[in-house]
Amino acid sequence: MSAGPRVTPAPARKRKATTLSSLGEKKALGEPIVMITAYDYPSAKVAEDAGVDLVLVGDSGAMTVLGYPSTVPVKTDELLMLAQAVRRGLKTPLMIGDLPFGSYEASNEEAIRSAQRFIKEAGCDAVKIERGGTSVERAAAMVGAGIPVMGHVGLTPQTATALGGYRSQGRTAERALNVLHDALALQEAGCFAIVFEAIPSDVTDVIMGAMEIPVIGIGAGPSTDGQVLVLHDLLGIHGGFQPKFVKRYADVKSAMVRGVEAYVQEVRTRAFPLAEHTYGIAPEELDRLRAQLPPHRTTV
Ligand code: KIV
Repeated sequence: MSAGPRVTPAPARKRKATTLSSLGEKKALGEPIVMITAYDYPSAKVAEDAGVDLVLVGDSGAMTVLGYPSTVPVKTDELLMLAQAVRRGLKTPLMIGDLPFGSYEASNEEAIRSAQRFIKEAGCDAVKIERGGTSVERAAAMVGAGIPVMGHVGLTPQTATALGGYRSQGRTAERALNVLHDALALQEAGCFAIVFEAIPSDVTDVIMGAMEIPVIGIGAGPSTDGQVLVLHDLLGIHGGFQPKFVKRYADVKSAMVRGVEAYVQEVRTRAFPLAEHTYGIAPEELDRLRAQLPPHRTTV
């Protein structure tokens, strides 16, 4: 399924927690940074046990776990509840909360207030926002308020309609320059890292020369400092649309459906439960119970 030698993660108790400075060190050493999304306690435990560096409580959870058609409708309170569950399952990865559409664009104050909720109410270590433009000022304001911020450029799903749909970005020299300018502006604003989504690898290669902060790619080629995938895509937990940049490492949905089908079958045929799945009662207690039952009524 995957090439190259297998790298077994150190047990969680021996692993050092990811910090902003350890990310910088990884970039300097050329050690790839691994990020995935998580949306609940069990997925957080999976990320923990697998030894990933960064966990994003992505607004992709709007689609993967809440069933919305896009990331746009999800509310801050909904993402906060997911983030709180993730927090309970994570120890070592740095945890980033995605600020949802409509929670940070209007003003610096709104951005700071929303970010503070993710830090205070859900225990996030950092937040992520999408786009350049006014988001650069919002990022600078949040950083100024002591909140670590991750940027996100290229395909930014919250504003996909304005970008002409869910399509790769930076495919002309002018558009590639826009991505470069946004990335540099977010770096200048103090972001500790940035996501590049769905841009041609050759464009990434060019921009990487200017990036001093860690760059995490999704559909941006191999030259970024790390990679991120949506958990449900990489594990095959849902059967929906799969972007070109997704590599599927498991087919969990099929395994889950098979498991539930087997349960359905066994309940319907009374093959489940067996004696080993039931509780017992001492025979004398059962006799006492029977003795105390009212006489069986045969007529009304
Ligand atoms: O919400 C999300 O899952 C994301 C990743 C694709 C980076 O923003």
